[in-house]
Amino acid sequence: MADNFKLYSQYYDLLNQGKDYVGEANYVADLISTYSPGAKSILELGSGTGKHANLLAEKGYRVMGLERSPEMVAIAEQTANDRVKYKVTDITDFDLDQQFDVAISLFHVVSYLTTNQSLIQTFKNVDQHLRENGLFIFDVWHSSAVNHQIPEKRTRKFQNKEIEVVRKADPVVFPERNVVEVNFDITITNQADQHQDQIFENHPMRHFSAPEIEILAYATGFEVIHSEEFQSKAAPSVATWGVCYILRKKGQS
Ligand SMILES: C[S@@+](CC[C@H](N)C(=O)[O-])C[C@H]1O[C@@H](n2cnc3c(N)ncnc32)[C@H](O)[C@@H]1O
Repeated sequence: MADNFKLYSQYYDLLNQGKDYVGEANYVADLISTYSPGAKSILELGSGTGKHANLLAEKGYRVMGLERSPEMVAIAEQTANDRVKYKVTDITDFDLDQQFDVAISLFHVVSYLTTNQSLIQTFKNVDQHLRENGLFIFDVWHSSAVNHQIPEKRTRKFQNKEIEVVRKADPVVFPERNVVEVNFDITITNQADQHQDQIFENHPMRHFSAPEIEILAYATGFEVIHSEEFQSKAAPSVATWGVCYILRKKGQS
């Protein structure tokens, strides 16, 4: 898995050029103001190329981004706002000796954690790095939508002045593990000389039901205070691919 994003990082922003990072950062900032007014510091898990981190820093938050891919962090550091710092680390195993008001993990990063052990370790780490009553906000693939819609093969094409990327996705469903392995076949064509590179990647993604997140939260020191469709705020349904969960760190009892 770690190597996937080494290659991916080279064209990640091109693949996601249509993604509404501004709208998403506004949405997350609204959630933070609603559920934790006064929050100033954010820990971001799986910060990628730093798009959300910069936009949140522009709103006044200090952000520490954790990211396993040094290539992604190198891209993020090229545009990093003064209020943003990055650390190359695995979110299943980190110790910063620092606490934050809010933790976020966006664009299905938690769905990349496919085993119970990696989920429990990550959630416990987040709990240790949050102040009392701190929030953990993340979006994940939603089981009822995955089971209802059944992921299909699809091809997407992207280009800029330098390269054209054609990405074919061929998902394999593992119903007993709540996992879908998305196999990508990616062809990158250099626009200048038409040279082609081909890359194959395998991204196992886990999907979750609300009771599963509730029991994970309970086991790791959190309670689920709200869930809704990411950005639209609709109630989760079979039509909702990405559900946003808002967890609060429980106080000492
Ligand atoms: C789909 S990208 C999302 C990046 C960013 N949050 C965004 O919205 O653009 C998933 C990111 O999670 C990172 N990631 C996946 N598993 C990780 C892990 N165990 N530890 C740290 N980073 C991880 C990947 O390297 C990748 O950058």
